[in-house]
Amino acid sequence: MTRIIGIAGSLRRGSYNAALLRAALEFVPQGGELEIESIDAIPLYNYDMEIAGFPAPVARLKDRVAAADGLLIATPEYNNSIPGVAKNAIDWLTRPADDIPRVFANKPVAIMGASPGRFGTILSQNAWLPVLRTLGTRPWFGGRLQVSQAAQMFDAEGRLANDMVRDLLRKFVEGFFEFAREQTTNRERS
Ligand code: FNR
Repeated sequence: MTRIIGIAGSLRRGSYNAALLRAALEFVPQGGELEIESIDAIPLYNYDMEIAGFPAPVARLKDRVAAADGLLIATPEYNNSIPGVAKNAIDWLTRPADDIPRVFANKPVAIMGASPGRFGTILSQNAWLPVLRTLGTRPWFGGRLQVSQAAQMFDAEGRLANDMVRDLLRKFVEGFFEFAREQTTNRERS
């Protein structure tokens, strides 16, 4: 079983990125599992809080990412970069720094995103790259998914209603699961 953790980088109830992640569930291939985790309960990072007692929601999410075969991030774009809440959640998962290899080393990671604008989070997706690099992850570059004009792509219930985007999402999800499966197989062999 190839297990991927999916995280949407938005707290908004009607988040297009959360909706995109939910839409991905439909395209998970056989032998795969996509487990969506929320960042709602992740506090703002504070070292004092870290040493006073690691927050339980952070510890739980960290362990879940560590145990997974991959991480799929659906990122919004704020001011041409990563939204603070999304970066904050990943920053917490990198604490304490000694734990970074356990959680992130060689972890397959894919980034996708949705925006009501015309560029579909391209700059935010690029802004994640140095973060993924510094954590020693294995980013998947086999596909790109930038959903632009998101307000027209999702229906009132948050379902992905555009066939072209559904097809792109299907290819993206299938490609990433295949990549994560290969990486896990290679790791087990070596
Ligand atoms: C935005 N938005 C935005 N969109 C974009 O494509 N490029 C951008 O640089 C920005 N900048 C930006 C800054 C701030 C502070 C806000 C609040 C919003 C719009 C953004 O894409 C939109 O709010 C999305 O709906 C956010 O994603 P979710 O919450 O729907 O997943």
